[in-house]
Amino acid sequence: MSLPRLFSGMQPSADSLHAGNYIGALQQWVDLQDTHDALYCVVDLHAITVPQDPAVLRETTRRTAAQYIAGGIDPAKSILFIQSQVPAHAELAWVLNTITGFGEASRMTQFKDKSAKQGADSASVGLFTYPMLMAADILLYNTQLVPVGDDQKQHVELTRDLANRFNSRFGPTFTVPEPYILKETARIYDLQNPESKMSKSAASDSGIVWMLDEPSKTAKKIRSAVTDTGREIRFDRGEKAGVSNLLTMLSAFSGQSVAYLEEAYVGRGYGDLKKDVAEAVVEAFTPIRTRTLELLDDPAELDRVLSANADRADEIASRTLDDVYEKVGF
Ligand code: ADP
Ligand code: NA
Repeated sequence: MSLPRLFSGMQPSADSLHAGNYIGALQQWVDLQDTHDALYCVVDLHAITVPQDPAVLRETTRRTAAQYIAGGIDPAKSILFIQSQVPAHAELAWVLNTITGFGEASRMTQFKDKSAKQGADSASVGLFTYPMLMAADILLYNTQLVPVGDDQKQHVELTRDLANRFNSRFGPTFTVPEPYILKETARIYDLQNPESKMSKSAASDSGIVWMLDEPSKTAKKIRSAVTDTGREIRFDRGEKAGVSNLLTMLSAFSGQSVAYLEEAYVGRGYGDLKKDVAEAVVEAFTPIRTRTLELLDDPAELDRVLSANADRADEIASRTLDDVYEKVGF
């Protein structure tokens, strides 16, 4: 029996992943690869929907791929590839653009947010058509499940609409994917500003735990995390956002439940908790950091793995694209 097909990706938009990317995505991807037929993509075509520096993009793309591998994505179990190396993504996106309504695309809240930030007139058309490219990523592989956080739910909904629309106009072609909703407990917040999620686009990096940072720097950041004036260690997002965030991180890194940790810290202070979080994070990230640097040190081997994986993705994607081209009349 074949395993359910799953597709997920991340933009190569920073030198290093952060603890949010790790706990909210990579760590779960690693768990999912044994029970799913998974494809994990570095979505560099998506990354140029906002202005990029070419040399930086090239570097962050390779670094992101290296961190997937170092973090546990096994190219023998999953297909791990770079989006721009498989031309069918851009080709299918074009076809999907032609069956998407202008009004429908205009309703995407992520476009509204991102274009408002840039000023409506300077946002690119590429940013506007981003969701149709994401739909192409998913539909090329007959994907059944798409792991998503809240921010991407609307895009998966659009992908489903486009799959159904194409199927009813041109005959059965695409598998209609389901969102695989990641647990809310996997959301990590900024150490200095625990009301906002940890994000590489934060104004300051003092609240971000980078996977590739020096261990001493990471430990220092965690010791300086914002807590509150109370003393009690318990999970309460409303009253104790900082402490709750530390508990979530410790739970994700140690595998112990938050309830267990609350019990274990009765009568102990915030200093103890921070020390333990720092230790757990450093213990998890140090081997990933070492392995990432090793992989980047042997660019020929990394390129070989990525190119072999792009070929595997291309084989599936080309079949879907051929079918689509045939159906639309090419
Ligand atoms: P960022 O907000 O840093 O730009 P992305 O939007 O590129 O991160 O997200 C890449 C992946 O990491 C997505 O699957 C997203 O859901 C996950 N992710 C990002 N930030 C967090 C966070 N703070 N907590 C949990 N998951 C996160
Ligand atoms: Na697998």
